Amino acid sequence: MTTSPQSSGRVFSGAQPSGNMHLGNYLGAFKNWARLQDSYEALYCVVDMHAITVWQDPVELQKQTREAAAAYMASGVDPSRSILYNQSKVAGHAELAWIFNCIARLGWLNRMTQFKDKAGKNREKASVGLYIYPNLMAADILLYKATHVPVGQDQKQHLELTRDIAQKFNSDYSAEVFPMTEPVIMGEGARVMSLRDGNKKMSKSDPSDMSRINLNDNTDTLAAKIRKARTDAEPMPSDASGLEGRAEAANLVGIYAALTDQSRDSVCAEHEGQGFAEFKKSLTDVVTAKLAPITEEMARLQKEPDYIDSVLADGAERASALAEPVLAEVKRAVGYL
Ligand code: AMP
Ligand code: TRP
Repeated sequence: MTTSPQSSGRVFSGAQPSGNMHLGNYLGAFKNWARLQDSYEALYCVVDMHAITVWQDPVELQKQTREAAAAYMASGVDPSRSILYNQSKVAGHAELAWIFNCIARLGWLNRMTQFKDKAGKNREKASVGLYIYPNLMAADILLYKATHVPVGQDQKQHLELTRDIAQKFNSDYSAEVFPMTEPVIMGEGARVMSLRDGNKKMSKSDPSDMSRINLNDNTDTLAAKIRKARTDAEPMPSDASGLEGRAEAANLVGIYAALTDQSRDSVCAEHEGQGFAEFKKSLTDVVTAKLAPITEEMARLQKEPDYIDSVLADGAERASALAEPVLAEVKRAVGYL
């Protein structure tokens, strides 16, 4: 069964099954995925091929792939409406990525900040896969001619590259094969920062577990993390301009705003003059109210691995059916017999 989209266009997004799904993933991505499936045909992919660009233990990878699928569903992705699958099951991703490896220029990839961050100082030791990761991401999206891609702020540069690849392919082969994909980067949750350092994004790979709220943290753990989150001694300002230069305070207000669907200005107005120790208590209530049902549902789903596997298998079949004609069109344009 596929969606009957009310809006024209198709949504694609994905997250890596590399463990530690967190509040940033929920606010920057999953929450919007669930919303968009009401108006668009949508594909939500567990990008296990992207995950192995850095080492993944095979047994853990299987577990984390199911955990990611459970996180999508617990956040509201409905697998009977949207297509939920894991990337490695649809061979077209790898096939199109190869063609894009021949379209993208070295100079384009050399500008990618995520590669620089992830490879760090030891660039020579990074996998080649990590370097060409953005080409695979472009293939994920364009294999379905997706028009809208809901992601967090950190993916903006990769989506610009996706447009460059689509444009160069269309122009090199004088064929209007690919659409110009629009990033959907929404609201206060698009860039959730670390609880330990307001200038670093909340991330799966931060060695400090205290830096992030995991979707499987229990209520006590998340309360402790919020209580210990870094702030400053100033009280809540009357509006968001008073948060300038206060990265940690701004982040906590941003999280509150994203979870309650309001602006940072209105959160400030509501809590004006309050100390942050006090505000953190309200924030804990808001985070708990939103995440506890998600955590519970994730745990329930993870006890049913066979169900998760059947969802992924069904999704892969539906995704393959959509990919097939696009890949055929691409191969014709390229001149493959
Ligand atoms: P990743 O964890 O890198 O696989 O990211 C999966 C999705 O979550 C992508 O759309 C990211 O942009 C989004 N995301 C990851 N970290 C954050 C964050 N700290 N704030 C907002 N969105 C995020
Ligand atoms: N690169 C994305 C991330 O790390 C994950 C991803 C892979 C993705 N392919 C995608 C996101 C296609 C959107 C569309 O967060």
